[in-house]
Amino acid sequence: MGKNYLCHIVCALLLVSCTSSGKYDSFTPGRTWEDTDGVHINAHGGGILYHDGKYYWYGEHKSENTSSALVGVNVYSSEDLYNWKKEGVALSVMPEGSGHKIEKGCIIERPKVVYNRKTDKFVMWFHLELKGMGYSAAEYGVAVSDSPEGPFEFLYAQRSCPGIWPVNMTEEEISAAKAITQADLDSDRRHDYVVAGAWLARDIEGGQMSRDMTVFVDDDGTAYHIFASEENQTLHVARLTDDYLYHDGVYARVLPGKSNEAPAIFKKDGVYWMITSGCTGWSPNPARLSCATDIMGEWTSYPNPCSGPDAEITFGAQSTFVLPVHGKKDCWIFMADIWTPDRPIDARYVWLPVTFGEDGVPELVWRDSWSLDDMYAR
Ligand code: GAL
Repeated sequence: MGKNYLCHIVCALLLVSCTSSGKYDSFTPGRTWEDTDGVHINAHGGGILYHDGKYYWYGEHKSENTSSALVGVNVYSSEDLYNWKKEGVALSVMPEGSGHKIEKGCIIERPKVVYNRKTDKFVMWFHLELKGMGYSAAEYGVAVSDSPEGPFEFLYAQRSCPGIWPVNMTEEEISAAKAITQADLDSDRRHDYVVAGAWLARDIEGGQMSRDMTVFVDDDGTAYHIFASEENQTLHVARLTDDYLYHDGVYARVLPGKSNEAPAIFKKDGVYWMITSGCTGWSPNPARLSCATDIMGEWTSYPNPCSGPDAEITFGAQSTFVLPVHGKKDCWIFMADIWTPDRPIDARYVWLPVTFGEDGVPELVWRDSWSLDDMYAR
């Protein structure tokens, strides 16, 4: 076979699999996903903002050998969701030795960016662990920018709502939580005491732990920070101030003692759906699904929404975000990460359409390859 002939076949194949505007015209969950420079996208634990005709994908920059932040939060942009251009580093770590809260070598995870109409600012929330302290700091961080590409300016990082009790605990429940002793925690009813708020009461003064997280902007513009708290045993939903820069002091405990993390939320027909994982570190576990008509709860649990190969371990991945597809009614993409702790930079992405069963309950069905046109041609 002549060289020219081979070349023609390759070109024809390329034409079939590519659109004129970019390399990709479909999603291939779990495969390497190159940006427009041909480099595997480096935006893990990410979230997506749609603004002025473009999607912006923010995520953790990961290195070859460590999951610690050596660079910061990357941002990519796309108009079609398949082809992503690296815009650069949206939030940069501070120099080593600076003693800054986001000093190089800290841990920055699960960044999410929202746009605030009132202030015309882009606000980034993220999980922060201080350098050299493992996962013990359990803080959230906030940064702000005038443009979606950044640079974002770090504002502050802290634990959540010091001195404030959740709105969904009665005076009696608060008194009972305050009265929990070490002996209670050493007893075989330990889990009951965790559910009753043992860690909440322990942390009331310094503030609540804040790890895996997302931010959700509701239809009325009110934003909420949803995060794993209380030693990852209980989620907290904290309402934000109008400028999205702070907690406003109103928060609720959600699914107490059920150890959910990696929260991702969307809303359909007035109902909030939340996908989470269990707490097994970098190893995948079954996805969980919960639903509520009030974001502050009560939340009701549903079975694992996944089906297909490896459905019992969320296809090897862990939830990070549910992306509403702009301009398409009731179209959401479930986004998850396949972690590769031995080579963090190689972690892969699983993007799947959220479909709905006859009962209206969300489903995540594995697909080797899919496109928005296949799914949402209507
Ligand atoms: C996962 C969590 C990740 C990261 C990891 C560290 O459970 O979802 O964001 O914190 O643990 O082990």
